[in-house]
Parts: sequence; structure tokens; C-alpha cells
Amino acid sequence: MTRLRVLLLGAGGREHALAWKLAQSPRLDWLVAAPGNPGMARLGMVEPGLDILDGEAVARFARARGIDLVIVGPEAPLAAGVADAVGAAGIAVFGPSAAAARLETSKGFTKALCDEAGIPTARWARFAALAPALAHVRSAGAPLVVKADGLAAGKGVTVAATLAEAEAALHALFATPGAEVVIEECLEGEEVSVFVACPGTQALPLLAAQDHKRLGEGDTGPNTGGMGACAPASVFTPALEAETMARIIRPTLETMAARGTPFSGILFAGLMLTREGPKLIEYNVRFGDPECQVLMLLLESDLLDLVEATATGRLAGCEVRWKPGHALGVVVAARGYPGTPVAGGEIGGLDSCGATVFQAGTRFEDGRLVAAGGRVLTVGAHAPTLRAAADAAYAAIGKISFADAVFRRDIGWRELAREAGEGLA
Ligand code: AMP
Ligand code: GLY
Repeated sequence: MTRLRVLLLGAGGREHALAWKLAQSPRLDWLVAAPGNPGMARLGMVEPGLDILDGEAVARFARARGIDLVIVGPEAPLAAGVADAVGAAGIAVFGPSAAAARLETSKGFTKALCDEAGIPTARWARFAALAPALAHVRSAGAPLVVKADGLAAGKGVTVAATLAEAEAALHALFATPGAEVVIEECLEGEEVSVFVACPGTQALPLLAAQDHKRLGEGDTGPNTGGMGACAPASVFTPALEAETMARIIRPTLETMAARGTPFSGILFAGLMLTREGPKLIEYNVRFGDPECQVLMLLLESDLLDLVEATATGRLAGCEVRWKPGHALGVVVAARGYPGTPVAGGEIGGLDSCGATVFQAGTRFEDGRLVAAGGRVLTVGAHAPTLRAAADAAYAAIGKISFADAVFRRDIGWRELAREAGEGLA
């Protein structure tokens, strides 16, 4: 058995969950996380000083520490070419090149690829100036979706129910010089997050999860990075998975490879399950946060095997097994998120709350754990039913002390209704 030295880049709940699962691998020699967070510091070393957006610095660090495998958690280092630099240094890397990361970093790029490859997605148009964008929304009419064409951590999107909201969103986005904006048809249906491990044109679908993007209960309020997740998503049936692989994932991988920019890593398709079948809302080129947290709670087999097989292109023979039952994770954010979150609130009771807690925006200050970001914790549980998982996660939140906490009490509501046999409105 080869034991691996792993460098994990990132500092969020997703990376804490990856570290938590990696730490269970008998093949892990040692783990260093950069910049890491207080939760990750309990599972391995952390290197808060490493600039994870500097590919050369990451490659140098990895070489100096004899790292065998670099796992890139978030999108920003991928967009900055960190996987390219690490790969060029001869070190295995889990995550795509900057060229392939354009699937996430440029909505216009992905939309054009969808058109070229015949991938079902919302109708769209791109604008580089306010006046033609305003003219377009006035002629198309609401509802419409207005998006900044760049990385915005899920927060550059306005689902505008009215023309006034669409116009306000355009005014706000074009206030930034050089802004480019994509305006889309508003798709209707249920949303799922689909994760596929992809070395090149090989593709291994993992579990589908459901995120809850809006800040407020009942899916109201502003879009966020994600307020909670559950998996598996029973609405994403094996037939829908097969259709998604054939009509969306494989054409994407083949087009990327044919262009000389093959994709490698986790391809995360945000899908709308519409009446006409699954349509692509967007791609991300990494695990989702908080979806990753629930996938890690459900993963039975060794994460390191999966990550290594994906990074090295040897997916054949890699076995991925999932635990039975359901996992649910509730994001606990700091008041003010997704705007300016209140920092410094003391957090207590994590170890005795009875659930698995993944940390994100936390830090130690004078020996106390305090909030230091928007999304602060993901409180997760795994149980035979989703109801039991939800009850366990919410009971645990009740035992955590964190004065500035904001969280949704309805995470998993669609799947819970299905489980209870109530159907959906
Ligand atoms: P994105 O950053 O593109 O994932 O968008 C964030 C969220 O906005 C998505 O998860 C959806 O909930 C919503 N959204 C984006 N595009 C559309 C669309 N064309 N139709 C309906 N909802 C959308
Ligand atoms: N939860 C959605 C994302 O990670 O982009």
C-alpha cells in the first residue's frame, strides 16, 4: 500500500470535510492544509502563510515537503492556474487547469460551449454595456436571471421576478467598470447538484445532492454560497443520471478534450430538472460547499483512492461505495451574511453537540473560537432517514452556543416531503 503525503488547499467547510474524510484513510501518510482553519488544524498540519493563489509558491512548497498529491478545494486557485503549476512540477493534482476551469470562471464560455455541443441549457445573451442589456430585458420581459460573467461565489446572480428587479441588478453590475453580464431565461423545476469525477474523458458519477441557495426559509431572500444540503437526491433518478451523462457531461468532456484543454477533477453540474428534462444552470469545477460536507458523511470507501485515481487518470478499477441512508448539513452563518457578516462572536459546544461539525469562517482569538467569516459552520448528520438526519443536525445546533448565528430551519424540505410521502406542490 502506497501511503501519500497530501497538501489540501482551502479553508472552508468543504475542505474541512475533505480533511475529515482523508484523515480516515489508511493510505494517508500525512496531511497539510493551507491556509486551513481551526477545524482542519485538529486533523493535520496547517500552513496559514502559504499563498494558495500563487501556483509557483504552492509547487515549491509541495516539492520541499515531499508532497505526492495536491487537492485543490476552492475555485480561486484553479482559476489562478495553481493546478497547472503543480502539474508542471511533476506532482499529482486534483483539480483542473486554468483553461478547463473556465467552465466555472466564465459563464459566457460555458454557454458558448453548450451551444456548440448541443447541451440543454437556458437561452442566454451576453452584454458588455448597460443600454443594450436594459433594452434586452425590456423586450424579453420578467422573470429573468441576471448574472455577472465572472467568479462571484454564487452571489453575482439575481433571479428577477419583475422587470424592476432585473433593471436594478443590471445597474448594480454595470457600476463596475468592464463588467460583462449574462442574461438568461428563467428555468423552472427542481435544482440538483451533480458531481462527476472526471479524468479527461473518463467520467464516474458520484451522488447527487441538493443545496439551498437562498438565505431565507422557503427559498426566499438573496442567493448565497449555499445554506445547507442533503443527499442523496431521490429526484435525480438513475434514468435522469443516464440522460445527464449522455446529453450534458460527456459532450462537455469531449468538447474540452477536442479543444486541447481536457478537464480533470470534479465536474459539478448545477442542473434544473425541467419538464423538458435536465438543463444545465452552471458548471463548477470542484466540489460544492456545502454539498461536499454531506457527500463526505455518506462516502463509505476511501476518499484518497478516488482523489488519486481522478488526479492520475486511472479511474478504471476505482470503487466508490456509499453508506445507506441520508446525510444533511445545515450551514450556520454569521448575522449579516451574504452581506457583511458580524465577526468575533464566540462559538462553543462543538465537541459535545452530537453531530459532525465542519468549520469554515472560524478562528482562534485569545484561546476562544470565534466567527471570522460569512458561513461559519456546517452541522451535519447521517441517519437511516433524512428526517432523522435533520432532527439530529438541528438538535445539535440547539446545543451550540453562537450568539450571531443565522441558519435555515427547513434544509431538506423537498426531500423530506418526498420521504414523508406528501408529494410536492
Ligand atoms: P449560479 O451562480 O449560476 O449557479 O446561479 C445561482 C443560482 O441562481 C442557481 O443555483 C439557481 O438557483 C439560480 N439560477 C441561475 N440561473 C438560473 C436560471 N437560468 N433559471 C432559474 N434559476 C437560475
Ligand atoms: N453550493 C454551491 C457551490 O458550492 O457553488
